[in-house]
Amino acid sequence: MTSISNAVSQPILAYDRREDVMKFEDTKLGVKGLVDSGITRIPSIFHHPQQNLVNSPNSVDVDPIPVIDLSDPTPDVVDQIRKAAGKFGFFQVINHGVPVSLLDRLVTGVRAFHELPDEERMSHYRRDPVNGVNYFSNVDLFVSKAASWRDTLQLRLGPIMADIDAIPPICRSEILEWDKEVKQLGEKLMGLLSQGLGVNANKLEEMSCLGGRVMVGHYYPYCPEPNKTVGIAHHTDPGILTVLLQDQVGGLQVKHDGKWVDVKPVHGALVINVGDLLQIISNDKYTSVEHRVYANPLHEPRVSVAVFFNPSMRENLYGPLPEVVSAEEPALYREFTYTEFITRFFKKELDGKSLAKYFSLENKE
Ligand code: OGA
Ligand code: NI
Repeated sequence: MTSISNAVSQPILAYDRREDVMKFEDTKLGVKGLVDSGITRIPSIFHHPQQNLVNSPNSVDVDPIPVIDLSDPTPDVVDQIRKAAGKFGFFQVINHGVPVSLLDRLVTGVRAFHELPDEERMSHYRRDPVNGVNYFSNVDLFVSKAASWRDTLQLRLGPIMADIDAIPPICRSEILEWDKEVKQLGEKLMGLLSQGLGVNANKLEEMSCLGGRVMVGHYYPYCPEPNKTVGIAHHTDPGILTVLLQDQVGGLQVKHDGKWVDVKPVHGALVINVGDLLQIISNDKYTSVEHRVYANPLHEPRVSVAVFFNPSMRENLYGPLPEVVSAEEPALYREFTYTEFITRFFKKELDGKSLAKYFSLENKE
């Protein structure tokens, strides 16, 4: 065949990705369903370009992500958090006040949800939350170029908790307890992060940053071709702050100095990371860093639970705090409402650091 006839025939032969995405969506069983069906090759809708897959974590000469002890919030702890949030955008906390036994029960409960019989799991599968709860595979399934190897149970915790009856009973009591605890921890962390910026300890709280809380319970099952896809594509979290509980399987990586650094599971610890909105509010004193999870090569599923803290006063204006801006360090971002901000987030795929850039005063888009 000549190259010309090749070029002409290609559009006809090119496969219809959207149709395959729809077929996958219609199973309502997520990637867990694909694994259960016994596949040994992953469908091509999950194939990521090679550059997203290059896996060269060089942990040897890279500083590890700090583990900070929160038992006594001294000025030294404020300093450790300020440094970690500026340098890595990520840190782990221990002695954070959330009972470790609750963390263990929460992971077990979320795993049990994802391992419910097909019929039961399917009944929760939907893109739009009903009564504040939904279950789906890939938040960006219909806007991304390639899907990732994970499923998610999502819940609204605040400002108004999802309908109690809509929360799957198998992990209900754990989630209700977790919300109370995580809110207290969020308050503690926001206090320390505010102090680190040299503003009142309750500044972020006054801006309603504790109010909007969304929980995701991710499930990363065994992937038969882990070199062709990812667990979650590299991205930054959009909001203020994320509190993440991961089990002992591992797979979370953070970009630091151009390298992917493992966030090693520490039993009983919680992983904290800065979101784009906190980077903007702090005028880049804190940094929202790219992270990803590689596709799980192990036969044991990986479970993680994240809570995203966002402002609940959606129509207020957000931008660099006047206290952190000066003649020497002028504002790097314009002001915007949270509604504008989050609408922009959901229009795109999880794709690295583009959200903060979009609101930067340098942006010419
Ligand atoms: C996220 C995320 C990481 C993980 O949900 O935004 O980065 O370990 N999750 O599941
Ligand atoms: Ni994230």
